Amino acid sequence: MEHLRIPGPTPCPNEVLQAMTRQMINHRGAEFGQILNEVTAKLKQLFQTNGDVFLLTGSGTGGLEAAIVNTLSPGDKVLSVSIGVFGERFATIAERFGADVIPLRFEWGKAADVDAVRRALQAEPKIKAVLVTHNETSTGVTNDLASISSVVKELDKLLLVDAISSLGSINLPVDDWHCDVTITGSQKGWMIPPGLAMVSISQEAWQAQASARMPRFYWDFAQAKSYLEKAPTQTPWTPAISTIFALSVSLEMMLREGLTNIIARHARVGKAARDGIKSLGLSLFAEESHASNTVTAVAASDGLDINKMRQILREEHQVVLAGGQQTLAGKIFRIGHLGWVTEGDIEAVISALRVVLPQAGFRR
Ligand SMILES: Cc1ncc(COP(=O)(O)O)c(C=O)c1O
Repeated sequence: MEHLRIPGPTPCPNEVLQAMTRQMINHRGAEFGQILNEVTAKLKQLFQTNGDVFLLTGSGTGGLEAAIVNTLSPGDKVLSVSIGVFGERFATIAERFGADVIPLRFEWGKAADVDAVRRALQAEPKIKAVLVTHNETSTGVTNDLASISSVVKELDKLLLVDAISSLGSINLPVDDWHCDVTITGSQKGWMIPPGLAMVSISQEAWQAQASARMPRFYWDFAQAKSYLEKAPTQTPWTPAISTIFALSVSLEMMLREGLTNIIARHARVGKAARDGIKSLGLSLFAEESHASNTVTAVAASDGLDINKMRQILREEHQVVLAGGQQTLAGKIFRIGHLGWVTEGDIEAVISALRVVLPQAGFRR
């Protein structure tokens, strides 16, 4: 079997794949309603929220768009806290829908500086919402969301969180950290294929929703809520039924393992990846104090041809790693370690790298 070690899509356990072979059922019938209810309740546990959680059929980016169009109006001032490619994407979506985006960018590889966030919010009291990426998949950095949240809430702003590659793998207590909209994607730590965005919505977000005037139809949270309250429970539009079957099985597996254990496993796996990379004489791209437990970004060293390295890994060792995105192409490579992953899986990657690095020009 191929070792798929990119930061999503991630490998799926056999039970999950099996669940997807089921025949279709009526998405407006009682059986589906029961599955949707159960899955939603389990997701709330893993989001650590008592607020609303919706399953949206689409990829994570759709969830980011949903967060914006449901809470903002054209012209609203928004602070974009960006530490990489996905922070920029969140800001671009807000801009396209007419928000007045104030960018606060940090060097790629570093986490956001909380004092700088405070200063930016104090400098522009009309800011309504803050966009932040919890775990920046493009650089392998996890922001200190608890601290960012305490500043955002002290200054009474909405907090919209891209947690696509963190939720369900890295601790993110949505209610305790006062996240107003939190978005994750099925193909990440949830061990199921792409096709679903999962979002939580706070009371404050609902208040914002009532007056938000950005255009929305497919992503309208009010529609999602009204259909979730129907009998039988439904989604407004035809959902990705097979992916929801898969999610039903993966959530059972996750709750059996327990969130605390899942978070601890990701911490161990993340450390194994970082230690392994350093043992090879390579350097981490991310500042280590904020290095992610779901994706490790590795800086290219002199002589190392990353494309050649990835090709040999793929063809001769069945190990698939990710490259760098945008300006980081050719400068870093990334190891995804979220979802269905153990320390043994990372050891296999490090062992393969040990063989391949010299073949791809790396000299210690
Ligand atoms: C942090 C983050 N945000 C957003 C996205 C975009 O999600 P999708 O590709 O599911 O639209 C990703 C996917 O890699 C991500 O890791």
